[in-house]
Amino acid sequence: MRERRIALLGVTGSIGRQALEVIDATPELTVCALASGSQPLDKLAAERGVEHVQVGGDLTDVLEASQPDVVLNAVVGFAGVRTTLWALEHGVALALANKESLVAAGELAVSAWKRGGGLLLPVDSEHSGVFQCLEGRARETIEAVVLTASGGPFRNHSRDDLESVSVAEALDHPTWSMGPKITIDSATLANKGLELIEAHFLFDLGYDRLDVVVHPSSIVHALVRFRDGAMLAHLGQPDMRIPISFALTYPERRATPVSTLDFSEALELAFEPADPERFPLLALAREAGERGGTYPCAFNAANEVAVAAFLEERIRFVDIAALVADALDRVDGAPAADLSELVGADEEARRLAAGRVATT
Ligand SMILES: NC(=O)c1ccc[n+]([C@@H]2O[C@H](COP(=O)([O-])OP(=O)(O)OC[C@H]3O[C@@H](n4cnc5c(N)ncnc54)[C@H](OP(=O)(O)O)[C@@H]3O)[C@@H](O)[C@H]2O)c1
Repeated sequence: MRERRIALLGVTGSIGRQALEVIDATPELTVCALASGSQPLDKLAAERGVEHVQVGGDLTDVLEASQPDVVLNAVVGFAGVRTTLWALEHGVALALANKESLVAAGELAVSAWKRGGGLLLPVDSEHSGVFQCLEGRARETIEAVVLTASGGPFRNHSRDDLESVSVAEALDHPTWSMGPKITIDSATLANKGLELIEAHFLFDLGYDRLDVVVHPSSIVHALVRFRDGAMLAHLGQPDMRIPISFALTYPERRATPVSTLDFSEALELAFEPADPERFPLLALAREAGERGGTYPCAFNAANEVAVAAFLEERIRFVDIAALVADALDRVDGAPAADLSELVGADEEARRLAAGRVATT
């Protein structure tokens, strides 16, 4: 493998820190640019001799300046949209952790990807698993993709129990250690909804061919069903260093420090359906995806506002879904012709959701 210069966006986060570990363990990978939202990066940049650094603002500036071989987009939320579009448009390999950008800007992103012609490698563990199960398969043989969900900390809570769960309980994820926003999304199952939409754009599959199943031990990350009735599954430890390394070293699949599954101990591989009554955000996301246009963008925007309000203890856990449903009812959802129209749709959904937070 030749040297790869990586722009690491969101370096101060959970994915960003794990990406640094992967990069340090792989001699051909070097960091050419670092970015965060607000945390200073001077010390980290000086330690690593990284010349191009940006904190906040439009992160395409640091990409223009550094001209990376690979962009690892590990920013959280809609803030990652511009850099996703930049990498796809310029045909620069994109290792994508920031699922929100593909959800919000799916149509624009796919058009930019087609024009740019570069690699788009998912970092989300489920999509990395699907990507690996699909590699080399004839399209007509693929029937459906099934994403697994851990079910989160409230898998066995009743609807009544959910009325009073605390922020600390929602942040206590049973299998994955992640940043706060995605941890709350995992507890509401909004994360799996975002992932359905992400899979639709990544793999060009209709929503009728995308499914979700709850799998509490998070060992099977994805399943692909073929027309002959066979299924392929992707298994591994729930450790993000595996999909990060896969994306950054593709197609060489370099070694990682992560241990493999240990079959000398019992392994739990249980599956159960997701419950739409207790976790309505999954169905809301699917509906937003099926309606298309800027409905997925509105779903994402309202969800970001609602999750932030829940983390600040301004609304209850169950209010998150109510806020998102309300915003989706009130936006027009018309397709966005360009980024400025998309930003307008994002802002409108945020305004509606923030209004509901204020009156909840
Ligand atoms: N964590 C996981 O295991 C995991 C798994 C799959 C997918 N993902 C996805 O990966 C992304 C990152 O998740 P995470 O868990 O690593 O989040 P995180 O720990 O909250 O980190 C978020 C990163 O984004 C940066 N950021 C926030 N707002 C920004 C802005 N306006 N401009 C530029 N940078 C900004 C933060 O910088 P500051 O520190 O300066 O705020 C931080 O570096 C999310 O889209 C998530 O859904 C994460």
